[in-house]
Amino acid sequence: MQVLVLNGVNLDVLGRRDPVIYGGISLNELESRIYGWAHALDVSARCRQTNNEGEYIGWIHDAYDNVDAVIVNPGAWSHYSYAIRDALELLNVPIVEVHLSDIDHREDWRRTSVVAELAALRVVGKGPDGYREAIEFLAGKEPE
Ligand code: DQA
Repeated sequence: MQVLVLNGVNLDVLGRRDPVIYGGISLNELESRIYGWAHALDVSARCRQTNNEGEYIGWIHDAYDNVDAVIVNPGAWSHYSYAIRDALELLNVPIVEVHLSDIDHREDWRRTSVVAELAALRVVGKGPDGYREAIEFLAGKEPE
């Protein structure tokens, strides 16, 4: 199973963002954990991150017919990018939306996710483990 993990805007500077909210983990460390979790479940993961919305959309287009599932954390784009939503809508594979922080209990503007409706699963507020949960879901592992 091929899973594409797309982290969006400002996730490259994760390690410098508020540790109370984001846990102080770097993107590098997060991606290492994702690769480890995927490997343990025989999932082939590919992690990518960009601050360029057009590039992010291009990767979603490339995913069409090429991967079995997509995990997205579009960062702040989640809250307003209908362009990313439209691109995700083209996919015919499961989409999992992950947010490190609990966007439902932060500022009001973070409560809206324009991609939420497209997600087979949403995992919010579980930190890096949210990606593990996403991979386990996609791999069909029963929750413990
Ligand atoms: C985030 C939540 C967003 O509101 C924020 O803009 C981010 C990260 C998260 O993973 O918690 O950049 O997507």
